[in-house]
Amino acid sequence: MTTPFSKIPTHLAVIMDGNGRWAKQRGLPRILGHSQGVKAVRSTVQTSREIGIQVLTLFAFSQENWQRPAAEVNALMDLLHDYLDKECEELMQNNISLRAIGDTSRLPSKALKRLQDVIAVTSGNQGMILNLALSYGGRAEIVRAAQHLARRCLAQELTPEQIDEQCFSQALWTAGLPDPDLIIRTSGEMRLSNFLLFQAAYAELYVTPVLWPDFDRDELLKALADYERRDRRFGRVSD
Ligand code: IPE
Ligand code: IPE
Ligand code: MG
Repeated sequence: MTTPFSKIPTHLAVIMDGNGRWAKQRGLPRILGHSQGVKAVRSTVQTSREIGIQVLTLFAFSQENWQRPAAEVNALMDLLHDYLDKECEELMQNNISLRAIGDTSRLPSKALKRLQDVIAVTSGNQGMILNLALSYGGRAEIVRAAQHLARRCLAQELTPEQIDEQCFSQALWTAGLPDPDLIIRTSGEMRLSNFLLFQAAYAELYVTPVLWPDFDRDELLKALADYERRDRRFGRVSD
């Protein structure tokens, strides 16, 4: 696991955007853009593992994406199921454990079952965490954490004063994971789209016009080279 970089993100998060436009540019249905996007997922997982990233979060499906036409949603759920089916062995071989964040209870039972199976099978793997954001919304995550902590206060397991940033962070779906160091968004949109709102407080942002299906190994290395040059001050002054 050697890396050509002097520093790499511990936690890399990616907003995989632009599948629809990739297909449209070719006169193809949007769904073909999504299936092509799966190839970019494979290459990103592989390269991240190779260079020693510890946590890779991929924004695969947002809470808002449920509002897309049913045919597109169904196709995305089928792709998720097939990806999990095919990749399980690859994850095992590469010592990668799967996790998920989001309201996964909304997923169709077939995809959810596969997700739970692969999470269980890969849970002992230590090489990298592949964290899929599925039916994920950052605000929903924060509200849910607040409800959880309020319930614990009512049960007198916790006092309001004990709720600090650390405690709040542990009530999020990402409990136990470090905050993202770098968030990449493909397809040029300069927004977070409700992704990791709490956790992104000090993340470096990298936006590339490249559409997700075209985001290959070289594009990832370019983003990491850019990150390497960032001066992360966290409100302080440079050394
Ligand atoms: C990203 O590509 C995939 C998902 C959001 C599920 P899009 O489907 O958003 O592609 P564009 O943004 O329409 O090009
Ligand atoms: C964000 O992309 C969600 C995912 C990449 C899964 P969208 O395409 O849904 O976001 P907007 O609509 O451009 O903000
Ligand atoms: Mg989009």
